Amino acid sequence: MTAQLIDGNAISRKMRTELAQKTAAFAIRHGREPGLAVILVGDSAASALYVQKKKDACAAAGIRSTIIRLPADCPAHRLLDQIAVLNSDDAVDGILVQLPLPLHLDPAIILEAVDAEKDVDGFHPCNVGRLALREPALRPCTPAGVMTLLEASGIPVLGREAVVVGASNIVGRPMALELLLAGATVTVCHRFTRDLPSHVRRAEILVAAAGNPGLIRGEWIAQGAAVIDVGINRLPDGRLSGDVEFTAAAERAGWITPVPGGVGPMTVTTLLQNTLTAATRREERRHRG
Ligand code: GUN
Repeated sequence: MTAQLIDGNAISRKMRTELAQKTAAFAIRHGREPGLAVILVGDSAASALYVQKKKDACAAAGIRSTIIRLPADCPAHRLLDQIAVLNSDDAVDGILVQLPLPLHLDPAIILEAVDAEKDVDGFHPCNVGRLALREPALRPCTPAGVMTLLEASGIPVLGREAVVVGASNIVGRPMALELLLAGATVTVCHRFTRDLPSHVRRAEILVAAAGNPGLIRGEWIAQGAAVIDVGINRLPDGRLSGDVEFTAAAERAGWITPVPGGVGPMTVTTLLQNTLTAATRREERRHRG
């Protein structure tokens, strides 16, 4: 392997230690810990695991967190009522609705009901719009985590050719906005893209977020490219795989993220950062009156 491995676990550990110091200072200053509320609808084992990881990370960082579990057949009005309660709860700085939601719930309606100032996922139209308009407030966690990985690894973005594979609301679209904000020339590929290899071959920075194991072939990777694999796919044998053919890609790339241990921990780290940011801004507003 010639590529430098980007160790998301190590970068996350360092950032979470620094964050814990900042939340301790917040608690002394304001007489309370920052608070996060996570809503989990239904009984998906994968979602339950992600939510538990978030709760554990909060505890280690000095953030008080609660998980609110609602049944899979929860009607929209009940979920919206719960969000309204959290919106007006002064002890709650951040609200996260774990996705995906059961099919009868429209995520656009649910996510828009969260107070934008408590939207630590960065999914509210106000927060996505702010990112698009170059005035980011609370940034979507995975794309912001990718930008942190690039920065921590000394990978230049300004003026570079960046290719994002996947156009989801959670990763691909906000990822393109983050890279654009950082001055990259950005291409977004998606299911209707006609010649995916030709786009990937041009990428100096490649972000794969298609949710399709091994979609990106190693031979498509440009020599020296930074390859960021957001895919977390469970293979039939139980192993996790990214969207990129790792071994072959690592022979050509300059940098590459592993799966697991690359982008995954950064999503949670950014969530913790967003929660502290939301808490700090709320306290500032309260003191301004
Ligand atoms: N499901 C997969 N990724 C995410 C995320 O970043 N936030 C939420 N709320 N749900 C997700």
